[in-house]
Amino acid sequence: MQLEHQGESDATPRSATGFWGWLNHRTGLDDLLRTALYEPIPGGARFAYIFGSGLLFIFLSQIITGVFLALYYVPSADHAHTTVSYITKAVTAGSFLRSLHAYGASAMVIVLLLHLSQTYIYGAYKGRRELLWLSGCVLFGLVMAMAFTGYLLPWDQRAYFATAVGTNAVSEIPWIGESIKRLLRGGTEMGTLTISRFFVAHVFFVPALIFALIASHIFLFRKAGAAGPFNEDPYDPKQKPELFYPRQVLMDLSLTALLIIGLGVLCFFVPMQLGPPANPADTQYIPRPEWYYLAIFQWLKYWHGAASIIGVLVIPTILVLAVLTLPFLDRSVERRPWKRPAAMGGYAFVLFSLVGLGLRSQYLDRHEPGVAQQLAKQKIEEAEYMRKPFEPELSSVSLAAENVLLADPLAAKGKAIFEAQSCNACHGDGGVGTAAAPALVGIATRLSSDQLAELFKHPTAKMNAGGMPPIDLPADDLKALIAYVESLK
Ligand code: HEC
Repeated sequence: MQLEHQGESDATPRSATGFWGWLNHRTGLDDLLRTALYEPIPGGARFAYIFGSGLLFIFLSQIITGVFLALYYVPSADHAHTTVSYITKAVTAGSFLRSLHAYGASAMVIVLLLHLSQTYIYGAYKGRRELLWLSGCVLFGLVMAMAFTGYLLPWDQRAYFATAVGTNAVSEIPWIGESIKRLLRGGTEMGTLTISRFFVAHVFFVPALIFALIASHIFLFRKAGAAGPFNEDPYDPKQKPELFYPRQVLMDLSLTALLIIGLGVLCFFVPMQLGPPANPADTQYIPRPEWYYLAIFQWLKYWHGAASIIGVLVIPTILVLAVLTLPFLDRSVERRPWKRPAAMGGYAFVLFSLVGLGLRSQYLDRHEPGVAQQLAKQKIEEAEYMRKPFEPELSSVSLAAENVLLADPLAAKGKAIFEAQSCNACHGDGGVGTAAAPALVGIATRLSSDQLAELFKHPTAKMNAGGMPPIDLPADDLKALIAYVESLK
């Protein structure tokens, strides 16, 4: 017994006994906690410093909500929308969960912009903090990549067309644009390969990079030390430090509380919408990105033809390089904003440009002829889809039954005609219905073959209004088409 205790005599007096004492002795948890909490902050705790830990909190929340979403989500063009629809409409609190994740992304971008602004305005990137700033810039890019890749996953109209525009914008980059677009999409068109790539990026690849960069960001931050207020020397702080715990921790927690309450209220009262499933054949749909991509979206509209290389490549590259190299270019120790007119002028210019571009895009959406109506229509279609109860997909059993029916050669021929005539563009593959036209499944119980033939000869006003083209086929083809439509169960 005595031998066993020999090495334990150096145990710290605090929590040295019982289970915690043992755990501390084995892991050094106490020391770790002390290192984490007793970080000195020159000049004392301030509300200006709360955004970094706010970001950490949202990131954690995104991981937790994301894991729960992944329990249901299936990344394929056939199932993605149905599974998100299931989460939204059938899973207990599923809509709330999905809203938390979706609005969490927006919250992350907002807090990120605040964190970046605070760092910039306070000149906190100065004084041996080049790598800290660089890792922050890369994290910014990774968060935007998360927002971009996550947006596609629900595979509704909004997601599909916004990502189609986004990946098309990439192809504007000279020389390599087309290849990057193909790499992102997994081909020339968007489909299951695109979803699977975006899913892997969103769930494995980018988060792994984010973990690594957050670790280096925090490590580099602790190595350089907190920069303190803007009248502080960035290399050698002179003001009386205050420890991170307890006052700064409490201030940071106030932002966390605000985020929890704000997101909770928003997700409860304005849950995230899910639109009808992506229909690539829809030529009317007007895509719009999330608010944080609006400025880029508007910017790209101004650049066409030969000049586009300036807008798509030259100016963005200069901007990105300027941001990345900022702590190398700006070597002065002056941190007070009013003594840095060029830096503050640049900040104001970029901020006003981004806000201006975003507002311009919103303004055009309201005033360009036809656009406002179409956008309003899309909103209504989304709301209508949200009101419909969840509909499970046809099971493999019923699909097999359909194939048996198609053993009837007439119906099989009809299926080919149905697709050749683009009936499926509006009525969906297998006549399951889309936002543009009702389902034809089970129509045989309502209309006989003769009645269908009659309907095709004399379409109703609603069919004409819905843009259904007149059916003008040889008698044999018409018979086959009707046989197929009647076979849809
Ligand atoms: C541009 C979109 C569009 C296309 C393409 C289209 N339809 Fe339609 N279809 C509609 C609309 C809209 C309606 C009417 C919806 C209503 O009555 O509310 C309709 C109605 C129908 C109906 C009657 C449904 C019912 O429940 O009474 C049938 C049958 C039908 N379509 C078959 C076809 C066939 C076969 C084709 C291919 C030759 C086709 N449609 C192509 C839009 C389309």
